[in-house]
Order: sequence, then C-alpha cells, then structure tokens
Amino acid sequence: MSIPDSVEINEGETSLIVPAVHSSGGPGKRIGKVFFNSQMAFNRDVSVMLLRARPVQSALDAMSGTGARAVRWGREIGGGMKVTANDRTPEAVEYISANIALNRLEESCQASHDDLRSLLARRAYDYIDIDPFGSPVPFIPAAMQAVKRHGVLGITATDTAPLAGAHPRKCLRRYDAMSVRSPFGHETGLRILIGHLIKEAAKEDRGARCLLSFYADHYFRTYLQMEEGGAAADAALGKLGYIEYDKTTGKTTVSMEPISHRSAGPLWLGPLHDSEILKDMNADETLAAAARCKKYLKLWREEVDIPFFYENDELSSLLHMSPPRMDRLLEQIGASGKVSRTHFSPTAFKTDLEFNDVLAIYRDIAGEVSGHH
Ligand SMILES: C[S@@+](CC[C@H](N)C(=O)[O-])C[C@H]1O[C@@H](n2cnc3c(N)ncnc32)[C@H](O)[C@@H]1O
Repeated sequence: MSIPDSVEINEGETSLIVPAVHSSGGPGKRIGKVFFNSQMAFNRDVSVMLLRARPVQSALDAMSGTGARAVRWGREIGGGMKVTANDRTPEAVEYISANIALNRLEESCQASHDDLRSLLARRAYDYIDIDPFGSPVPFIPAAMQAVKRHGVLGITATDTAPLAGAHPRKCLRRYDAMSVRSPFGHETGLRILIGHLIKEAAKEDRGARCLLSFYADHYFRTYLQMEEGGAAADAALGKLGYIEYDKTTGKTTVSMEPISHRSAGPLWLGPLHDSEILKDMNADETLAAAARCKKYLKLWREEVDIPFFYENDELSSLLHMSPPRMDRLLEQIGASGKVSRTHFSPTAFKTDLEFNDVLAIYRDIAGEVSGHH
C-alpha cells in the first residue's frame, strides 16, 4: 500500500511510513492530517524499554497517529503481546495499517479506528498509552475504567505551561490544582499531573504508584501501576499535598494542607520512580536514541527521589556569590547527606539536607573560593 506524500524512515529496529512533512522538535506542531514527531523517538524508546522490562499480554496505543509506537512494540518487544493501534482520524488509520503490513505484524498488531473513549467503553487492556496533543485530562476517566487489574497506564501531557505555573487559572480549571512559578516549576507540573491521575483513579476505588515519571522536551510523561481497592486509593490520596516556595528566602515548604494562597497543589508527594523497574530497564544499542536513553536511565536511577530541587544559580544569587561547580557542590553536600543531580535540570541538585544546611555548605564553598584570592 502506498500513501501519497509519505516517506519510509527507520526508528529503532522498525521501518515506518510517515508523512514526508513532519515535526522534528519542540512541542510538535500539527502539520497536515496525520501527526508524526521524530523527536518523540526518545519517548517511544522509553516505552519500549519499559514494556521489555515488564511484559504485558495486551497493549493499547490509544492515540496512535501513524502507529509508530504500537508498531515498534510489535517489532521490538514481541513475546506474544497483542497490540492495538487506535486513532480516530481516518488518514491516521491508513498509516497504521500500512505500518503493520510493512513490518509484517498482522498476527500481533491490530489497527482500530475509533474515538478512544468509545473503544475503552467496550474493551480492557493490561497497558494503555495516552499520547495526546496538549492535556490528557479528557481521556483519563475512560483509561481508568479500562485498564485491567494491576495494569499500567502511560500518560503524556504537553500542556506544560499551565502545569508549571505560567497559566495558573487554566491549571485550576483543568487539573483542579493551583500551579505556581518556581525554579522547580517542571517538577510541580509533573506532580500536579500525577496528583490528578491519583484523584481520578480513586473514583474507581483504585490506587496507583509511579513506575517512572519525567520531564523532557516540553512534555511530561508518567507510567502508573494500578493498585486495587479502596484502601489502596486512600493510601495514594494520602500522598497528595502542597508546596510553597518563598522566593525572597529560596526556602520551600512541603505540607499536607495549603499554607497560603501561594501554595501549589494538590500534588503528588510520593516517589516518581520505582527503583526495581529502573534496574530492569536496559538502554541497548538498538534503540533510536540509545545514548540519550542511557543518559536518562542513569539520571533516573541515581536521582534522590524526594520532592523538589535546588537550582545552583538561584542559591548563589540569593547568597550573592558566583555559582560553585556542580561536581564540587555534589561532593560537599554528599559529605553530610544524600545528594544527586536531577533529570529536570542540568544545573540543579536534589538533597535530603535541611535548607539551612544547604546554605551553610554554599557559604563554606564561597569562603574557600574567596580564600584563594
Ligand atoms: C500527539 S498525536 C499521537 C502521536 C503518536 N502516539 C506517536 O508516538 O507518534 C495524537 C493523536 O491522537 C489522535 N486523537 C485525538 N483525539 C482522539 C480521540 N478522542 N480518540 C482517538 N484518537 C484521538 C489524533 O488524531 C492524533 O493522531
């Protein structure tokens, strides 16, 4: 089958027919009727690594576009998994069918042409992937009802601006949570998204925990493992809370109730990652963005998994000193507490030390530097 104005490309171990004119960066502009963004190869790679580490019997790529993600699973994971690639745009389904045929996956992959909400009213899956333009909010209730017991959801959100504090009213309307600007706005945004998912799961008497959650290239992504029953739902809701950032002192306070109208939340305060699954994920050379996968896997594995981080520049300007080198800083803080880099920002760090102890270490380093002059 040939589709006008299309090209064949390779991604990972898969050949794909995609629109000749397509996005290759940024949040992904919509060009033409069928969407493909080559920069999202990394996002698709991560789903391949995760499903290789935790195989499932049935997986739905609910908003499949060209079928790129689903066909990569069929080709690169295998193991008897049944894959459904769904999209409501007829032109997208033509690409999905062409890509299934190109990779000879008729046995394991099925094309579906439906609104995902009506598909999910009829069928259930072990794994459901939601990868929309913008916010996933309209699709979450359907996904929460149709993911099987102890199944997994993979959710992308590209509406990072409202979530990270640039449009707090919009965030409040969509996510029923307050967002605020802060040096760690991307982490608050990701945690507001997860908090919303936990509240939606609770309506179905289900809880959830994060397998892997991250920010990259203008989007948030989280993989949630469902936990069944009212007690699991209550336990997950118990990990929602608030944070408040004081920009005059640089101090962040985490609390279970809002402290003032400047508090952000409700948001998820639990872990972003599951260390067991990260151990089992493997960034092998067959992936499309193998080097980037290796780099992120290392960052996620080493990340101190507690809420919020410090920006080196922010602390140094608060203390009127020039920013210390990151490795020096990590070494000094590491001598008295847990510390790591964070995937959210190359110039930031996470630590379990108290704010005042972090400041004291900064002052020591500044003293050392000025001592050399
Ligand atoms: C960002 S694109 C998906 C990209 C794709 N997952 C990939 O990795 O290449 C979003 C897709 O969702 C589809 N879509 C939007 N609303 C939908 C709905 N209610 N049901 C099913 N598909 C929908 C659009 O047609 C579009 O192809």
